[in-house]
Amino acid sequence: MSRVLVTGGAGFIGSHTCDALLARNYEVRVLDCLQPRVHPRGRPSYLSAQVEFVQGDVRDRSAWERALEGVRHVFHLAAYQDYLPDFSTFIAVNACSTALLFELIVEKRLAIEKVVLASSQAVYGEGQYVCAEHGVFHPDPRPLKQLQCGNWEHACRRCGRSLAPVPFDESVVRPHTAYGISKYAAELVGIELGRRYAIPTVALRYSIVQGPRNSLYNAYSGICRTFTQRLLNRKPPVVYEDGRQLRDYVHVRDVAAAHLLALERPECNFEVFNVGGTQGVTVLEFAHIVAARCGTGLAPVLRGEFRVGDARHTVSDSSKLCRLGWMPRFSVEQIVADYVEWVRQQRELPDNSDQAAAEMKQHGVLRVAAVHA
Ligand SMILES: NC(=O)c1ccc[n+]([C@@H]2O[C@H](COP(=O)([O-])OP(=O)(O)OC[C@H]3O[C@@H](n4cnc5c(N)ncnc54)[C@H](O)[C@@H]3O)[C@@H](O)[C@H]2O)c1
Repeated sequence: MSRVLVTGGAGFIGSHTCDALLARNYEVRVLDCLQPRVHPRGRPSYLSAQVEFVQGDVRDRSAWERALEGVRHVFHLAAYQDYLPDFSTFIAVNACSTALLFELIVEKRLAIEKVVLASSQAVYGEGQYVCAEHGVFHPDPRPLKQLQCGNWEHACRRCGRSLAPVPFDESVVRPHTAYGISKYAAELVGIELGRRYAIPTVALRYSIVQGPRNSLYNAYSGICRTFTQRLLNRKPPVVYEDGRQLRDYVHVRDVAAAHLLALERPECNFEVFNVGGTQGVTVLEFAHIVAARCGTGLAPVLRGEFRVGDARHTVSDSSKLCRLGWMPRFSVEQIVADYVEWVRQQRELPDNSDQAAAEMKQHGVLRVAAVHA
């Protein structure tokens, strides 16, 4: 069977991808630096013993050279994810590493049959809205002044009325965070250079991926993690804005299934696909689902806080991938149940949410509206 390299394979989505590949009899190699904020205890015990592990950084050419030897397929998942303004780290880890991968494939004439890139819903920025009178909009980020007044919704720039969010397909991309920009840059590098040099490449734009193994230590990943950690530590979940923001959630096992499809189906080559959930759910509804599962009876709190850079509503339309036979199989309730059960089985239950909030406040990322309902 052919060998597959999974960068970031010790992480949440990467490790489930490794399991899905092993179950299909692929040989799997992982390149991962075991980033301390994700893996403070070193190599995670959930990572299969059948995986060949190469410790290294995707910014390092020699690490790629070691990891790419004898490989036919690459999943590039290693990434920097954060809310803080260290812009160059996003570009170096997420975009330059992708350029380095393609540089090496071309330079060394490596026989790579497929590259699958982990992209994100963040490439859509604010997403898509409709005004009953003036049609479809892809708005700019909401101005700080507006957010400071606790005015959360997007308004039509022609008539000023509230816009209704609509799920977006893959066609209009407008990233406005360092993370989203770095992911779109990586897509362009992969899809366009891949096309030019005949290296079949696919980019998958995941929505919010949830499920077991989402690191309990990384203070900047996972709404389910932060709500669960707070609730099981007997603290209420803190909900930003008015909690009515729509999001869509996809189970990590559905993402692993999408990965196999992207790997094995030639129709996916040089295409981008949304990989999202079944429906839009408000953050407040999500908080109630997590609270019910944790069984603590603690209601979410709203303090008029908002994060600069957050989009108001983001719900992906994944019908392009569904037309190839993929389907999200897990409901939001099942996604939450699987995660909470996994957290309960862990030996430690850290809660770094207050520290993360303080750090975001210090950097001006987390703010409080002067007026809010
Ligand atoms: N989790 C989500 O909701 C979500 C949504 C959209 C996109 N994504 C993308 O999916 C991919 C996987 O995310 P995840 O949620 O599994 O994150 P994760 O933090 O659990 O895993 C990322 C892994 O990459 C490794 N890594 C980080 N920087 C590295 C570097 N410079 N060199 C080598 N390894 C490095 C980490 O040690 C970790 O094991 C990322 O590309 C992420 O941007 C995730």
